Amino acid sequence: MTNKVYVTRKIPEPGLSMLSKECKVTLNRKSSVPSRTEIIRNIAGKDALLCMLSDRIDAEVMDAAPDLKAISSYSTGFEHIDVKEATARGIYVTYTADILAEATADLTFALILACARGIVNADRYVRENKWKVGWAPDLMLGYNVHGATLGIVGLGRIGAAVARRARGFNMKILYHNRSRNQQLESELGVRYAELDELLAQSDFVSIHASLNSQSRSLIDKAKLQLMKKTAFLINTARGQVVNEAELVRALKGNQIAGAALDVFEKEPLPRTSPLLKMKNVVLLPHIGSATYQTRSKMAEVAARNLLNILNEKYPDPAFLVNPQVKSVRPLKN
Ligand code: DGY
Repeated sequence: MTNKVYVTRKIPEPGLSMLSKECKVTLNRKSSVPSRTEIIRNIAGKDALLCMLSDRIDAEVMDAAPDLKAISSYSTGFEHIDVKEATARGIYVTYTADILAEATADLTFALILACARGIVNADRYVRENKWKVGWAPDLMLGYNVHGATLGIVGLGRIGAAVARRARGFNMKILYHNRSRNQQLESELGVRYAELDELLAQSDFVSIHASLNSQSRSLIDKAKLQLMKKTAFLINTARGQVVNEAELVRALKGNQIAGAALDVFEKEPLPRTSPLLKMKNVVLLPHIGSATYQTRSKMAEVAARNLLNILNEKYPDPAFLVNPQVKSVRPLKN
């Protein structure tokens, strides 16, 4: 019998063709996030789900699909899925792991450079016809990136890829993680620091921690107060790791020099957000992994993960979020 799959957003090729060849696909063709009611309606009777980081997949959703065998997320974060609940039901949960690390590190570096050199404000200045005097000795001065200190909060795959780029800029690199990684320390030339020390010493603080109960609101008022007045905060991880209201306060009070954000507590960023009116921030619409090559690779991996499980084959362990599920519902191959 043909397996039935629900895909919550149109993903790039070859992902969709791979799924359509083997399964009956129900696809949300709209370019908007499906509502909860739509998810619950469309998942009914399905064998597998391919979802996005914007879809909350919890027990209520799983209840609607008693035959569900696989949840494949087109993302590296999986905080939107109740993994414990899925495991208890024998549902395999997969993600795209480190496939997007390099693209996200590229964007992080673009943001470091953009905020240090005021690239976005300078572009506006030219377009808005404010550039009247040609070259000027004090026009739009920014900060050096080369030789500056970079603090990486979360030295996972993306954090490490950022560190590799920072070495090319001759930066001094500090990192903070739940646990020290001495092998990476010698490989990347990075030094472990307690979070408070990292915040106090860095010229650029870049967030790469995944979202969990320990990292939620990790960068709060007290932590922001530790940063240098000339420092910048860059976040390409998850908005909830930083207390956004406190960040706004710190930016308004010139407690830090600026911020560059690709992620927010609420996405899309509400039109009422004070961040929209601030000159010392660069704002992007969550595009860390958004390159043609990376998104296509993510689609291929997400589709393959899902098909493997439906074909009773274990997915590549690198992409399996809940290996414990193997003992709840072993696969045949
Ligand atoms: C992810 O996959 O978790 C990223 O945030 C997408 O850019």
